[in-house]
Amino acid sequence: MTDPRLIKTAEDIAHMRVACRLASEVLDELAEAIRPGVTTAEIDQLAAECMQRQGSVSATIGYQPPGYPPYPGHVCTSLNHVVCHGIPGPKALKKGDIINVDVTVIKDGYHGDTSRMFVVGGEKAGSILARRLVAMTFESMWRGIACVRPGAHLGDVGHAIQQFAEGNGFSVVREYCGHGLGRKFHEPPQVLHYGLPGTGMELQAGMMFTIEPMLNAGKRDISTLPDGWTVITRDRSLSAQWEHTVLVTENGVEVLTISDGCPPPPPEIAARLPQFAG
Ligand code: MF3
Ligand code: CO
Ligand code: CO
Repeated sequence: MTDPRLIKTAEDIAHMRVACRLASEVLDELAEAIRPGVTTAEIDQLAAECMQRQGSVSATIGYQPPGYPPYPGHVCTSLNHVVCHGIPGPKALKKGDIINVDVTVIKDGYHGDTSRMFVVGGEKAGSILARRLVAMTFESMWRGIACVRPGAHLGDVGHAIQQFAEGNGFSVVREYCGHGLGRKFHEPPQVLHYGLPGTGMELQAGMMFTIEPMLNAGKRDISTLPDGWTVITRDRSLSAQWEHTVLVTENGVEVLTISDGCPPPPPEIAARLPQFAG
């Protein structure tokens, strides 16, 4: 039997549509500010101001899972070889850097969670490798999203991501995964970004979770800095991550973390998803 707590109510879904759109809109606003010379602390401050205008609050500031110190940022800013949970600070962005900004807002008690990659100085500023990693991480996320429908298994999602990532010479980070969310920031199910088709939980309409693959240009191994949060690649290779929050619908999937400024899915995938086709 499926745990009934995994199925969201109509009320939950309505609130989550709002929270998720707001999270994506924070990224729309930050996108304009991400350029050479800007510090990650300045990005954090802009995010804080944007949330204040929205009437949302950051889910990350003060967030303290067991065994962690309280997280000090309104957003996570993960630069180059930082895999995730980078802490905003005085470091200035340079042309050609790649950065993930991960935004989680709480609105009316509900969490919207999404992240994007940016190439500092514009798409063409990045190295061939950096651009390829960013683009393929994006496509791996969308390939995972495209698997989501009632009757599919979470292993189908993980497999699609892993197959595409490894097939293109990148590695998949294993220690962090997508997650259920709603009134809580992190709740079941765990959504692994690797796996085998037909394994894992069977999806049902009303389930809601994030898909947020982290791909490394080198080996998949990671380490954590003494600050207790910042996760880096052990071999200091580049790492990229994208994240959306999704809802399993009767017919397939609804991506909730959508806004005017968020990049559309790759065309082959958009064509298969009613939300994005046409
Ligand atoms: N937003 C991250 C996620 O996708 C979690 C960040 S927790 C923090 O799950 F404390 F590092 F901010
Ligand atoms: Co998440
Ligand atoms: Co996130």
